[in-house]
Amino acid sequence: MNQLDFEDVKKKGLRVPKFKTVPAHIAIVMDGNGRWANQRGLSRIEGHKAGEAALLDVVAGAIEAGVKNLTVYAFSTENWKRSTEEVLGLMSIFARYIEREADRLAAESVRMRFIGDRSRLDARLQRLMAGIEERTAQYSRLNLTVAINYGGRDELTRAIRAITVDVAEGRLDPSAVTEALVSQRLDTGDLPDPDLVIRTSGETRTSNFLPWQAAYAEFEFTQTLWPDFTPDELALILKRFGNRD
Ligand code: IPE
Ligand code: IPE
Ligand code: MG
Repeated sequence: MNQLDFEDVKKKGLRVPKFKTVPAHIAIVMDGNGRWANQRGLSRIEGHKAGEAALLDVVAGAIEAGVKNLTVYAFSTENWKRSTEEVLGLMSIFARYIEREADRLAAESVRMRFIGDRSRLDARLQRLMAGIEERTAQYSRLNLTVAINYGGRDELTRAIRAITVDVAEGRLDPSAVTEALVSQRLDTGDLPDPDLVIRTSGETRTSNFLPWQAAYAEFEFTQTLWPDFTPDELALILKRFGNRD
């Protein structure tokens, strides 16, 4: 696999040019791993591994481009319906990503966090997630947020439940329930809304990704399957975004 890492992207220098206007927050639906694998006669898990490699490159590219917030959709609340083998394979890829990348993310001053309902994830993965969140909490060069067991409706439902509990117990007046308060109570609490959402693999759905937050985002759909998505393509999209702004 032709995999770039932070050092490669830096060495190659001009792969991702600096733009005058970069989105404050890019969100990506990383779709097409299964089809990528199918086309090569590989297992779906091999597709997800290739997708993980693409993410490493894109994170490095986003840093080079000066993007401050990158949120990626790794596993949806609907994805539990896939085969046990695929679900377990994905979970172990997430764990391995955190273990392998922790040092490098910290060295690059990347803050890594997760959104979604983590209560359904296994205890070891939850510990790894909490560990890297804590370890990188002081960094802000790039806020990398990974959505695992994330669904926008689930996120809103959890937020509404928490708000109604506060109202019922007298801590919150209904008149204080504003759009700003709802935004704060979402998993993305302190992140700015995404101004650009990219979905790979030619599907033009949002699949329950950041429905509240992306209300005003620009959408970019590319035919490229996620494992083939590169910092170069990100740079092209950023160039278009810059022109449009
Ligand atoms: C995206 O790729 C990764 C996850 C949803 C976990 P898919 O696995 O959805 O790939 P396709 O859509 O089947 O090609
Ligand atoms: C969306 O992709 C979720 C992730 C990329 C993690 P899916 O492939 O699961 O979405 P649908 O099934 O096409 O809506
Ligand atoms: Mg898909």
